Amino acid sequence: MNIKLIADEAYTSQNNLHVEFISAKNLSSHKHYKLLKKAGFTAKQESVCCLYEKNILVCGIEDNSNDTLRSSCTVAIKAIKNTNYKSASFTVDTQNIHPIVDAIILGGYEFNKYKSKNKQAKIKDIFLTCKSIKEVQKTFEEAVIIAEATAFTRDIVNVAPDDLNPPSFAKLAKKIAHDNSLECTILGEKELKKEKCKAMLAVGRASCHDTKLLHLAYKPKNAKKIISLVGKGLTYDSGGLSLKPATSMVTMKMDKAGACAVLGIIKAVSELKLDVEVHAFVGAVENMIGGNAYKPDDILTSRKGDTIEVRNTDAEGRLVLADVLDYAQEKVQSDYLFDFATLTGACMVALGQYTTGVMGHSSRLKHSISKSASVAGELTAPLPFNKHLKKQLKSDIADICNISNKPYGGAITAGLFLDNFIKEKNKNKWLHFDIAGSAYTETPWDVNVYGGTGAGVRFMSEFLKNIR
Ligand code: BES
Ligand code: ZN
Ligand code: ZN
Repeated sequence: MNIKLIADEAYTSQNNLHVEFISAKNLSSHKHYKLLKKAGFTAKQESVCCLYEKNILVCGIEDNSNDTLRSSCTVAIKAIKNTNYKSASFTVDTQNIHPIVDAIILGGYEFNKYKSKNKQAKIKDIFLTCKSIKEVQKTFEEAVIIAEATAFTRDIVNVAPDDLNPPSFAKLAKKIAHDNSLECTILGEKELKKEKCKAMLAVGRASCHDTKLLHLAYKPKNAKKIISLVGKGLTYDSGGLSLKPATSMVTMKMDKAGACAVLGIIKAVSELKLDVEVHAFVGAVENMIGGNAYKPDDILTSRKGDTIEVRNTDAEGRLVLADVLDYAQEKVQSDYLFDFATLTGACMVALGQYTTGVMGHSSRLKHSISKSASVAGELTAPLPFNKHLKKQLKSDIADICNISNKPYGGAITAGLFLDNFIKEKNKNKWLHFDIAGSAYTETPWDVNVYGGTGAGVRFMSEFLKNIR
């Protein structure tokens, strides 16, 4: 499916379906009102009516917000894919181009890698028509780059864990680096031992795949700011010896979604040619069981030097991130440090499965992210730190415990565990994004279809686009 911006005010052809949005309030003034009424169409949000004789698809919309348009347009693109039309057209302007592009690329997204028979949709071209191309061209191109980077992130999240393991992740990172002219450094187990990344290595010890740390860098001339992104890349999380129940283990290939998001973001930034330097660090690890598995009661010495009492091997992401965050802070002196991780089930309990949890010390930075997210069409919400929750991580035998001693506030205590590994000078530069709920879905919502959603890519790209 190609998406093109064209100048014609109204593109018409016998093979083209034109899409219109209409509210209940304006329905009676539609030129085909009689036909629509006959079809029982009431312009309810998320409802569509195809007037085949007129080559028009009419979509109900309850208000003129971008959020509503994005959802409505997603319903439209799914309906279009079920027809025999070769092309479809939408009328756009600068205001609505972003939600329409997101809906077409992300709402119309399919992952067919493992299907032996592909049902090919007939639709070939989507035309966005507008009065003055000049005004919207740049917005259009940026929106397409960001939506496609989000789809790319979904593609890697959706790959099966046997196909995407730490070594193949490293190969993929090299390819991304090559295709986008990025610098690329890969650390294997030998180098990670030298780097004293013992917490991260312990998590991956029972896996038949080597643990890897990936570092990609986009370095434009005259960069205004330096950004470090860190992603949790658990290519599979069985829970380790604190084994997950069978039903919770299904979908745990998605535990690499933070890593996939940071790769999607650096790809978007390099294609957008933003003048910010971006570093993407990924801890690619598989959490498995075996005779050599790390275990509850183990004491691990982190790269930072702090000792960690392991009380649950399923709280593995924070152990990996502890070392990768420390490595990232030592290698790059950045203006901002963001980590993306499917870190806790507790984040979903707190916020629901649609919202990314945002944690950190800087209210200003959290506010700024919240603005970018609402423009980009992602849901985020702050989860506040406090000193009482921090105490719940105290260990009687080591410097810190990898889980809290109380059952509540699990997303925040996980964030506070990471905070322990953030250097004092970076406290206000850092935010942690818990994407456990938002990164993957088994039921479609908004522009998200079954599987990876690409959470994080749109709001972070929007934030980086506006950085001064
Ligand atoms: N990867 C999981 C978190 C997760 C759960 C992500 C469900 C997506 C969906 C993480 O490694 C984990 O297992 N966390 C534990 C922490 C607990 C042992 C303190 C959890 O959330 O149960
Ligand atoms: Zn886990
Ligand atoms: Zn995990």
